[in-house]
Amino acid sequence: MEAKLNSEAGLELQPSQPPRIIVRDSRDVDVPAMLAIYLHHIRRGVESGLDVGDFEPPDAEDLKRRRKNMQQKRKMPHIVAEENGVVLGYAYAVPFRKRPAYRYAVKHSIYVHNDHLHRGLGRRLMGALIDACAAAGFRQMIGYIDGANRASLALHEAFGFRQVGYLPSIGYKFGHWTDTVMVQRSLGPGGTEPPQA
Ligand SMILES: CC(C)(COP(=O)(O)OP(=O)(O)OC[C@H]1O[C@@H](n2cnc3c(N)ncnc32)[C@H](O)[C@@H]1OP(=O)(O)O)[C@@H](O)C(=O)NCCC(=O)NCCS
Repeated sequence: MEAKLNSEAGLELQPSQPPRIIVRDSRDVDVPAMLAIYLHHIRRGVESGLDVGDFEPPDAEDLKRRRKNMQQKRKMPHIVAEENGVVLGYAYAVPFRKRPAYRYAVKHSIYVHNDHLHRGLGRRLMGALIDACAAAGFRQMIGYIDGANRASLALHEAFGFRQVGYLPSIGYKFGHWTDTVMVQRSLGPGGTEPPQA
């Protein structure tokens, strides 16, 4: 699309560009932006089982180490969504459990910047995370969602996760008990074929 010239003002008007959202692997330099997104949500208490008073913010260096360990050593997907170079959301997978029997199962997390909700970023991240987990050979994805977190429950449902567990009154925050919904989705052939390696 060509820029239009405003003849009265003599100014060149920029045509409105569609937002350019890219989903890519996370990098070390993304950690401060990811931490800011995370802290905001934790303070609002949407997802965390912790009360604000008990909460000790994670350390950026520690997060960098954990990110590198998961992404590079353990080959777990760890991705961000950026718009015009600004990180607006992230998602990652970690082992479901440490024991070797569970090595084909991951659990995941996804966070979108509070000022950029409902713009499709969660959808982009979730699709990319599922694809990356499947491509890495994982067969099952597990999510734990606060029972009051309607946005996350709906997002997961839209991507084929189904409820496989319900943990009533398992958390306590902001002065009341909270429930957790456990959701699961298979990847690739799931449990219909043995793993490849
Ligand atoms: C859950 C979250 C990642 C969704 O991100 P988002 O970018 O706002 O989601 P999208 O705009 O891509 O919406 C995708 C779908 O999610 C669902 N959704 C998103 N926000 C919703 C809301 N407030 N209420 C109900 N459904 C909602 C809808 O199904 C939506 O599809 P639709 O637009 O076709 O209806 C975001 O709300 C978030 O970061 N929440 C705080 C952190 C968190 O709870 N993470 C999940 C931990 S399990």
